[in-house]
Amino acid sequence: PLVSMTEMLKKAKAEGYAVGQFNLNNLEFTQAILQAAQEENSPVILGVSEGAARYMGGFTTVVSIVKGLMYDYKVTVPVAIHLDHGSSFESCAKAIHAGFTSVMIDASHDPFEENVATTSRVVELAHFHGVSVEAELGVVGGQEDDVVAEGVIYADPKECQELVERTGIDCLAPALGSVHGPYKGEPNLGFKEMEEIGKATGLPLVLHGGTGIPTHDIQKAVSFGTAKINVNTENQIASAKAVRETLAVKTEEYDPRKYLGPARDAIRETVKGKMREFGSSGKA
Ligand code: G3H
Ligand code: ZN
Repeated sequence: PLVSMTEMLKKAKAEGYAVGQFNLNNLEFTQAILQAAQEENSPVILGVSEGAARYMGGFTTVVSIVKGLMYDYKVTVPVAIHLDHGSSFESCAKAIHAGFTSVMIDASHDPFEENVATTSRVVELAHFHGVSVEAELGVVGGQEDDVVAEGVIYADPKECQELVERTGIDCLAPALGSVHGPYKGEPNLGFKEMEEIGKATGLPLVLHGGTGIPTHDIQKAVSFGTAKINVNTENQIASAKAVRETLAVKTEEYDPRKYLGPARDAIRETVKGKMREFGSSGKA
């Protein structure tokens, strides 16, 4: 069924695993991620950035594709459609009205008081519709679509606690050294802060920039209260590799199904691997 993230993440935190957010880029990503979730009997969060929604047609298109596939594939595991890095109240409102079951309001670039004010407005509307809300503090490095950062700023634990208490969000993404896109060398995550923030807020934490984080860091993050891990680049790399390899061998191929099919298989296998690594397999 299509659900919000609230119950999914509460259960994950209580049982010591993380639910993956896998970002949609097109139809094949949507197919592959839903197939993986069903085959692994895992809950799943479909992340949709504003850029990806634009590319696919709009929020309504995304919801229709997901609902259609869930029906045709007979998907029984819990699925959330989540706006990733929502840039404004208006954008979150549009996604909610189009049928998204979860939104992230990313006002992390604004001054703290503005972040609290915007996030509170989103929570009020979202909760009225049974939609869950993720908010962010600090700065995740790197670039994802429209979200660009020069450096990395670690979230402040005191501010995290205050944001949570004043807004009523369902989960929190404290930036603690993670980066969108590939890492240059090993990531240097702030586990001390993560533990502190997890304890102070009592909420499931979200780890952005899941691509390239080694398994021992994933396990540590989960043990400190991380219940949602976002992955996009790794699936993009796997799918691009499959297309390149297919077309390198079949140089005369022009039927998109012949090169996007292998891309879809590569995404599905990558996602299944992540679900096992995050511990969400068999937890639907
Ligand atoms: O919001 C999406 C994620 O944080 C994806 O990060 O592309 O580095 O896996 P990634
Ligand atoms: Zn992110």
